[in-house]
Amino acid sequence: MTPNLPPPPQLGDPLPSAASPEVLRFLALRRSTPALSLAEPAPSDAELDELLRLAARVPDHGKLAPWRFIVLDAAAKAAAVARLEAVAQAKGDQSLVAKLGKLRVPPLAVIVVSAPSAAASIPEWEQVLSAGAACTNLLYGALAMGYGANWITDWYSYDAEAAAILGLASGERVAGVMLIGTPKEPPLERDRPALAPLVTRA
Ligand SMILES: Cc1cc2nc3c(=O)[nH]c(=O)nc-3n(C[C@H](O)[C@H](O)[C@H](O)COP(=O)(O)O)c2cc1C
Repeated sequence: MTPNLPPPPQLGDPLPSAASPEVLRFLALRRSTPALSLAEPAPSDAELDELLRLAARVPDHGKLAPWRFIVLDAAAKAAAVARLEAVAQAKGDQSLVAKLGKLRVPPLAVIVVSAPSAAASIPEWEQVLSAGAACTNLLYGALAMGYGANWITDWYSYDAEAAAILGLASGERVAGVMLIGTPKEPPLERDRPALAPLVTRA
């Protein structure tokens, strides 16, 4: 699973624009991995560095980098889950406790945080979209590296106390809790939408 990626290009370097059949094949067949089937090993520290570099290489109107990443390795994640469990118990809702399984089981989580700048002239909507693109790049990068990955949010992304436990500051939102590990079994294809009702040709 060695990434073997080219080094980061330098500013102004000419970049390839050749066709990439391998990428097209990957896009045609890629599938997220159910969170509960993600096991060790997680990406190594070096691989994770490469994944974060790929995740940050997204369209970003105004070059604001309106996102950041919080890495929760197994130990940090276990500590966060224990604190989230206390929050869920205090709410008296066992379904919230049960939903923590998806965060507990995988060996690695990366929280993609949407951190839009209110001072910038770029609409907040576009800054949030860029955070979603960072989630997609991270998901696809992990899958292309041979790992399994899943993009979730769940209740703790929308609860202020829980989001603070995950490391978010005020004004920030969870764009994705990206769960990464090794699939215990290959994911199966899911239902996909029929394209015809979704496409208009004017
Ligand atoms: C923003 C966002 C949030 C999501 N949150 C959850 C979630 O909390 N729980 C869940 O089971 N799936 C969630 N999903 C869906 C999973 O990512 C799901 O596994 C995915 O739709 C699988 O599709 P794929 O195989 O095409 O990648 C979310 C998806 C997105 C885009």
